[in-house]
Amino acid sequence: MSDLVIRPSRGVRGDILLPGDKSISHRSVLFSAIAEGDTAINGFLAGEDTTNTVKTVQALGITVDGVGNSRMVVRGNGLDGLREPSGVLDLGNSGTGMRLLAGLLAGQNFFSILTGDEYLRKRPMGRIVEPLRLMGAMIDGRSDGKLAPLAIRGGGRKTRAIEYTSPVASAQVKSAVLLAGLFADGETTVNEPSKSRDHTERMFRFFGVDVAEAGTRVTIRGRQRLRAKGTIEVPSDISSAAFFLVAAGIVPGSDLLVRNVGVNPTRTGIVDVLQAMGADITLENRREQAGEPVADIRARYSKLHAVELSGDVIPRAIDEIPVLAVAAAYAEGTTVIRDASELRVKESDRIATIAGELRKMGAEVRELPDGMEITGRERLDGAHCESHGDHRIAMSMAVAGLAAMNNTVIRDAAWIDTSFPGFERLLHQAAY
Ligand code: S3P
Repeated sequence: MSDLVIRPSRGVRGDILLPGDKSISHRSVLFSAIAEGDTAINGFLAGEDTTNTVKTVQALGITVDGVGNSRMVVRGNGLDGLREPSGVLDLGNSGTGMRLLAGLLAGQNFFSILTGDEYLRKRPMGRIVEPLRLMGAMIDGRSDGKLAPLAIRGGGRKTRAIEYTSPVASAQVKSAVLLAGLFADGETTVNEPSKSRDHTERMFRFFGVDVAEAGTRVTIRGRQRLRAKGTIEVPSDISSAAFFLVAAGIVPGSDLLVRNVGVNPTRTGIVDVLQAMGADITLENRREQAGEPVADIRARYSKLHAVELSGDVIPRAIDEIPVLAVAAAYAEGTTVIRDASELRVKESDRIATIAGELRKMGAEVRELPDGMEITGRERLDGAHCESHGDHRIAMSMAVAGLAAMNNTVIRDAAWIDTSFPGFERLLHQAAY
């Protein structure tokens, strides 16, 4: 598999447009499939994860035109319009794909099997299997349903509404329960310890479904119909923008504009944290698309200093913590990250993998059970880094390499395509 070679950069500059938001892309195709009427999706992320979700929806009997492109049309078949798939549904590397689909399939009147790659098959599924069983779905899997493959016999019209308190702040758990709740009679409520991203709630509303929110509680009434509204414009992914924002923050001479980025407040922890570290980041031209806030983000180089991160900001920045660790490795002082044990069950154990890879470049990083301590240095050394099968680790180390002395090589960099096809080209365009 391909290696990515990163040369030290003399400044990250220009005006760039990044691929579509991964979370919104998954949801756009799933929700359009069960809506009444056709939905055009513009700016869809044509990455591996989201393409697997599209293929799954096709295997469930839905017609999708333009697969593989960033513009697709999904021919929705209504709430009861999915049909039993004849084969196994393979979600590849995608936790979002598997967990959201498990919720949707838990409400169907048929049998299905979900699987994924060797990494996804190690990730915890008990967190969705437990509430979905309470809702009446019969689910089996390895380790009594804690690990995929998962075999699901949905509850169909017997799906039960529940009130569920999730032990983790997870949009995937919340979304799985709400999607199953859509097929139940009565009201389903999910409560979580702190608010996770709310793209599901916003997309339900976009399709005309009532969703009630009170603090960290979300309630949906079952059997509501989704009505197609024409077009969903998917903004660029702030999680992809994060790599460029940090790059601009650590490479002297940078001045970058990233256009059309989703700035949903449940996702903008990266901006808040970088600003708290002294980064020069501004949001311009704020607007709204398909119920999601969007802006252009300008990032200029400025000296960074350490911060302490814990509590509610963690779920708002969870996918960006590896690249924030890179920022911390170049910042003055010791950054402490706590309350982030969820990082251990992502595409890789991101506390262990980012700490280990940054140390290869000479960074001072101490692992904590639920986070890490990172003491910054003016410059790191180039190194040979591994992706660990994790797109965000590969991209984080590429960014670290931009501000290092000497070249950095990222081995097995093709994993980047799960969420960010074209990353290498854009980085070369902006960073050299
Ligand atoms: C996602 C939720 C988060 C996030 C993932 C995408 C989503 O996972 O890390 O990349 O689209 O719902 P958790 O729900 O496990 O926190």
